[in-house]
Amino acid sequence: TDLDSFISGLPKAELHLHIEGSLEPELMFSLAERNGLAIPYATVEEVRAAYAFSNLQDFLDIYYAGAAVLCTRQDFHDLAAAYFARAAADGVIHAEIMFDPQTHTDRGIAFAEVIEGLLSAMADARAKFGMTTELILCFLRHLSEEAAFATLAEAEPWLDRITAVGLDSSEVGHPPAKFAGVFAAARQKGLKITLHAGEEGPPAYVYEALDLIGADRIDHGNRAMEDPGLVQRLSSEEVTLTVCPLSNLKLCVVDDLANHPIDRMLEAGLKATLNSDDPAYFGGYVGDNYRAVARARGLGREHLVMLARNSFTGSFLPPEQIAVHL
Ligand code: HPA
Ligand code: ZN
Repeated sequence: TDLDSFISGLPKAELHLHIEGSLEPELMFSLAERNGLAIPYATVEEVRAAYAFSNLQDFLDIYYAGAAVLCTRQDFHDLAAAYFARAAADGVIHAEIMFDPQTHTDRGIAFAEVIEGLLSAMADARAKFGMTTELILCFLRHLSEEAAFATLAEAEPWLDRITAVGLDSSEVGHPPAKFAGVFAAARQKGLKITLHAGEEGPPAYVYEALDLIGADRIDHGNRAMEDPGLVQRLSSEEVTLTVCPLSNLKLCVVDDLANHPIDRMLEAGLKATLNSDDPAYFGGYVGDNYRAVARARGLGREHLVMLARNSFTGSFLPPEQIAVHL
């Protein structure tokens, strides 16, 4: 349809994408074979059938198991290269990708293997598609702050190639406050900060992300909508929210896309953006998220243009580069 081609042609940035979550079942099988690893599925169809989640933890268990096939620099390169090709086809001209080093270093994979594979795919994306890319190093919030400090120390040789630090994994019971020290240290090193908050966790976690951590951006933020004062605050401070509709549906953050809050967020003055989160697990890349929510909520071109515009203004690009995209 017209709207579909309008969406594909709309230049956009993707700000919330876990590279491990872009591992398609086909690549999972080929990497398992390349690395001589067994996986608990017989077929690609069986893998896809396992992707029926009732909450965040359900998904995380399968996501961490899948990530175990990623072993070498080449594996991380191939993973990211596949994502950049799909993103480019969706009209993504700038991508800020998150990675979870602890998921790999805790299995004995060297930090260098992970990051060098990602960096080489980023260089290729620039050369092949003219895409600009940035790296966001995420700490796993179900682990200790001490472990996050150790990860930040391991990243030291690459800090000039890492834009921001993030916080992901099991939200409830692991509030931002648990990581106040390590985010302060990261800030001291010149890194930007973005935190998953208000996906399953309460509005209080979003307040903590702002007040205790000084987050530059909030990932998800859906539950901020429960607190009118918080909505007002996010709106007046122009805090970008990286919203992920297909993720929200798959993880039961919303019961139906027809009830997704994206247009109410925009109308409340929130700087909402559309993103894919973990596209291989949630049934679609960023273009699919635009199309699905446009259909479900009856969004018009003005909404879609606003969402794409917010993806650039909310990016960690320097202001002069943002201006080029507006
Ligand atoms: N939430 C928390 N942790 C995650 C997610 C998410 O949506 N995706 C990958 N890790
Ligand atoms: Zn996420």
